[in-house]
Amino acid sequence: MLLSDNHKLSLRIWGASHADAIGMKLDGIEKGIKINVDTLQAFVDRRKSVKSVYSTSRGEEDKIVITKGINDSVTTGESIEAAIFNKTQRKSDYENLKHTPRPSHADYPAYVKYSGSYDMSGGGKFSGRMTAPLCIAGGIAKQILQEKGIFVGAYIAEIGGIKGISYKDSDISLAQVEKTMAQPFGVIDNKNASLMLSAIEKAKLDGDSVGGVIEAISYNVPAGLGDALFDSLESTLAKLLFGIPAVKGVEFGLGFDISKLLGSKANDCYYFEQGKVKTYTNNNGGILGGMSTGMPITCRVAIKPTASISKEQNTINLQTGTNTTIAIKGRHDACIVPRAVVCVEACLALAILENIL
Ligand SMILES: Cc1cc2nc3c(=O)[nH]c(=O)nc-3n(C[C@H](O)[C@H](O)[C@H](O)COP(=O)(O)O)c2cc1C
Repeated sequence: MLLSDNHKLSLRIWGASHADAIGMKLDGIEKGIKINVDTLQAFVDRRKSVKSVYSTSRGEEDKIVITKGINDSVTTGESIEAAIFNKTQRKSDYENLKHTPRPSHADYPAYVKYSGSYDMSGGGKFSGRMTAPLCIAGGIAKQILQEKGIFVGAYIAEIGGIKGISYKDSDISLAQVEKTMAQPFGVIDNKNASLMLSAIEKAKLDGDSVGGVIEAISYNVPAGLGDALFDSLESTLAKLLFGIPAVKGVEFGLGFDISKLLGSKANDCYYFEQGKVKTYTNNNGGILGGMSTGMPITCRVAIKPTASISKEQNTINLQTGTNTTIAIKGRHDACIVPRAVVCVEACLALAILENIL
């Protein structure tokens, strides 16, 4: 995909959940930029499942193999290409699902689109697994931004209706966001973390699942990045974020809540602080007219409850034309939110880098 109409970056993600490998090709990164491959691997590892109440037991190693574009930790100016070899494919889990689409998965529309011929094992190219290569690209973008003093981070703001600390209610510092990234269950304040984990555990015991909200913030983004209409920073970001499987909503700043305010409360009023232009509030999420304002860029991403649940549900048999039921076996997270945090970070980093190049 091209990240915007005036694109500088182009990203292609290939493979499928149960193919031999998945990978990415990133074009537009100039030569001579240092990329720490260990830091990149650590970034991608944040997406992996850890043995926990919320996570799957698929246990892929997700080792990044860089095949082109980075030599001795420095970019060469060519396309950057990288692969991850799938080690734990288990197609048998999906054999009996061929004609019975799983509710809330891509199965039915893909069946129609590809006339039943697409191999949906593990969700195929629609799987959350495809976010591993997305994180490779985003991890590279994040390192390049960091060199320029721009920081990108994300954290869990809500799970199963239990709210954590949100930028909507209080100022969140760079140090607070940075701290969450060292934790597998990244919340700003641990106060409600145990309630969130209990909500996941309860759903899991019931053969069910829960969703939640991820918040992302970028600090030190210079003012004036982005453009009007469809090349707005919001458009680029939304395009990327909606590419993450299970994302069903994206809002910037106060998002839908801003519609309830009077203009006098919604407007972010300016002031000078030591010669720097700032606003007292940041209700617009650091973006006006599609361009960055210099205030932190803030956005919220709604993640739906995991589609695969072991509870029995109604579905259809497309071969026999009859109604039936389904209870999904296999390795699935009772909550995707903790693992999707780093994917959101990857998208934010790519969108900002696209506009900075
Ligand atoms: C990191 C990550 C892991 C995911 N793991 C699962 C999973 O184990 N089970 C599942 O049903 N969905 C999982 N998903 C979400 C599905 O891939 C997604 O809901 C499905 O493909 C349908 O797409 P849609 O929700 O965007 O409409 C995951 C998503 C992400 C980002």
